Amino acid sequence: MALRILGIETSCDETAAAVVEEGRLILSNVIASQIELHAPYGGVFPELAARAHIETIVPVVETALQEAHLGWQDLDAVAVTYGPGLPGSLLVGLNFAKGVTLGRKLPLVPVNHLEGHLYAHWLNAEGTAGGPPFPLLALIVSGGHTELVLMRDHGQYQPIGSTLDDAAGEAFDKVARMLDLGYPGGPAIEKAAQHGNPRAFDFPRAWLPGTFDFSFSGLKTEVLRTLSRYNGPRPLRLIADMASSFQAAVVEVLAVKTAQAAREFGAACVALSGGVSANTALRSAMRSRAGVPVFMLPPILCTDNAAMIAAAGSRRFQAGVRGNLDLDIAPNARLM
Ligand code: KG4
Ligand code: ZN
Repeated sequence: MALRILGIETSCDETAAAVVEEGRLILSNVIASQIELHAPYGGVFPELAARAHIETIVPVVETALQEAHLGWQDLDAVAVTYGPGLPGSLLVGLNFAKGVTLGRKLPLVPVNHLEGHLYAHWLNAEGTAGGPPFPLLALIVSGGHTELVLMRDHGQYQPIGSTLDDAAGEAFDKVARMLDLGYPGGPAIEKAAQHGNPRAFDFPRAWLPGTFDFSFSGLKTEVLRTLSRYNGPRPLRLIADMASSFQAAVVEVLAVKTAQAAREFGAACVALSGGVSANTALRSAMRSRAGVPVFMLPPILCTDNAAMIAAAGSRRFQAGVRGNLDLDIAPNARLM
């Protein structure tokens, strides 16, 4: 019998449930986005996020089972994100998963959200064998994370670098707010940047030599300082040029440092994940600079989803990992 895992993800602002077979084949992948709820605030409002998860988790899980044409009796386990993420949001998913596994007598498998972003690379529509080769250098770039991680094998993670301040996606969201481009900022900046000149403004790149760490707060401040020089109505051209020049600065640092790390650690490939990895400019810069094959995901698997949690959960399940009712959320969990 094929191994079927229900994944549940509520670490931030998407309520998501998915059924995955053998850690690879997506049978269903349901995502209830809260974008409209948070848009007026220009970012995720934690209390509202938790309340919305409570309202949507049951229908989202039911839809995931229906779309997979399966009942609870067809599942082998439930995998759930226990961290990192927003405490109130994580609690909703974990408590739901505990209740349902107790009631349905199913094993519970705790999954680290970042491990989920990595295991999205083993998912595909056909459920065929494959996946990226090891050693793999992963760049996880999302609203909450900017992490370079070396994976020498399944389940082995060596942190190489991370952000010292804002996450890449957070910088996109904040700069989009400064430019009145709306939320979420990443796609809005990318769209505005299409009509702009990436060399119009020479925004700073924080290279942090000798490390594979990142920093985006200086860049963000410089965008704000530049913007404050323009009083009155701001022409669309100016906004497009600023968006484009900002995006170019983020993309260049991410691509160059990832390529350097790939060479230094002898990576066989680079694998991009997280919401920011949907960015077209980042994808093409990475392709031209990496020097090794670059694995990229369809946009639906870049941003938060539960199929990736089920994929990582399948590995953990096969390795014998189980959670019990004492399992607690870990809002600052690291990859181990
Ligand atoms: O992975 P994700 O859905 O959630 C977190 O775990 O944070 O990532 C969301 C982040 C947001 O900051 C959003 O602005 C950014 O990913 N993002 C993008 C793009 N699409 C989403 N950033 C740049 N370009 C994009 N096309
Ligand atoms: Zn994420």
